[in-house]
Amino acid sequence: MQTISADICTMSGQYSYPIYVGSNILSKHHLILPHLAQKKVAIVTNTTVAPLYLDRLIDTLEKNEVNSIPIILPDGEEYKNWQTLNQIFDALLTNQCERNTTIIALGGGVIGDLTGFAAATYMRGVPFIQIPTTLLAQVDSSIGGKTGINHDLGKNLIGAFYQPRMILADSTTLDTLSRREFISGIAEIIKYGLIRDHIFFEWLEKNMTRLLAREHKVLDEAIERSCKNKVEVVAADEREHGIRAILNLGHTFGHAIENAMGYGTWLHGEAVAAGTVLAAKLSERMHLIGNTEVERIKKIYLQAELPTIVPGLDTEKYLNLMGRDKKVERGNIHFVLLKSIGDATVCSDVPIEVLTEMLEECSINE
Ligand SMILES: NC(=O)c1ccc[n+]([C@@H]2O[C@H](COP(=O)([O-])OP(=O)(O)OC[C@H]3O[C@@H](n4cnc5c(N)ncnc54)[C@H](O)[C@@H]3O)[C@@H](O)[C@H]2O)c1
Ligand SMILES: [Zn+2]
Repeated sequence: MQTISADICTMSGQYSYPIYVGSNILSKHHLILPHLAQKKVAIVTNTTVAPLYLDRLIDTLEKNEVNSIPIILPDGEEYKNWQTLNQIFDALLTNQCERNTTIIALGGGVIGDLTGFAAATYMRGVPFIQIPTTLLAQVDSSIGGKTGINHDLGKNLIGAFYQPRMILADSTTLDTLSRREFISGIAEIIKYGLIRDHIFFEWLEKNMTRLLAREHKVLDEAIERSCKNKVEVVAADEREHGIRAILNLGHTFGHAIENAMGYGTWLHGEAVAAGTVLAAKLSERMHLIGNTEVERIKKIYLQAELPTIVPGLDTEKYLNLMGRDKKVERGNIHFVLLKSIGDATVCSDVPIEVLTEMLEECSINE
């Protein structure tokens, strides 16, 4: 097992907590108990994850006289809303959860975001622990303190920054994850190599087959190196005023792809993979990288069995969709571009003609 120390510069000062990464660590009570403020916890999970891991967690806690209140929600992004949040509050109140009752999120990014927001607001903030069980949640969404829910008018529009007391990423829980969800999570892992860690990118090129086979040694290392990268970016810029924006590589195009395909048709990581190839092509047109790098980027996604092209790409439609993205400021679309593999930069002055030409070329050729 590895422990990563997250030392985040938050609005209320420096805040540190551990991230534990390893195989079969869900039943290691000594990792969880020191972070509990009282011998009572509420565990928020969903109908898919509960039958797989809830009993194991409850057992671990019960053996140490910790009383658990399970809160089992329906599964799906469509439940990341006010109604479900209220369901959590109802259960917390009915079970007399107090200001020092820890709330544990056991599940993927949807459960993590919902539970984190509930913890941030219940009794004006209660202790919170993340136990992420999807690859995306272990390497990305559980880290960084962004919590929240969706609104009918857009995703993740309501929320709070709220840091957990601890994150426990047990890679063995990923054994039950569908292959498609697992591969989708790999897109975010590749992202860390591309934006700031050339050596990690090379390691991924060499180890992709073993990662896809979920070999625990390789998987643990990939998760650990991803967590370290995310922590280092967020540590300096919790609220995304600057450097944190590089985490959005491929996401401006990716969100447009998710939207154009119809939400849920493409998984997030699939859209980010194809979106990153577009960002790489734009970087090439802006003379930041060459075609060799673009081809190398495409190759790693193909190795990971992720999509690299966008079928039926319609330039006008994509320009429109990107104009509506949250990351647009004062009419300028901000793109994360690559200066090399392992070095990203945020660019707000891509000429519209260059962007249009790149999209048109992709819509003709692919
Ligand atoms: N807070 C952030 O910084 C941040 C960053 C990225 C994404 N997100 C959010 O994360 C969400 C996506 O998260 P996700 O990709 O984990 O999706 P998810 O939470 O919907 O999980 C995907 C599916 O896998 C199931 N599942 C979870 N763990 C499992 C396991 N171990 N075995 C079998 N099935 C399992 C879930 O029940 C679900 O059906 C989105 O809502 C997105 O907005 C947040
Ligand atoms: Zn993402």
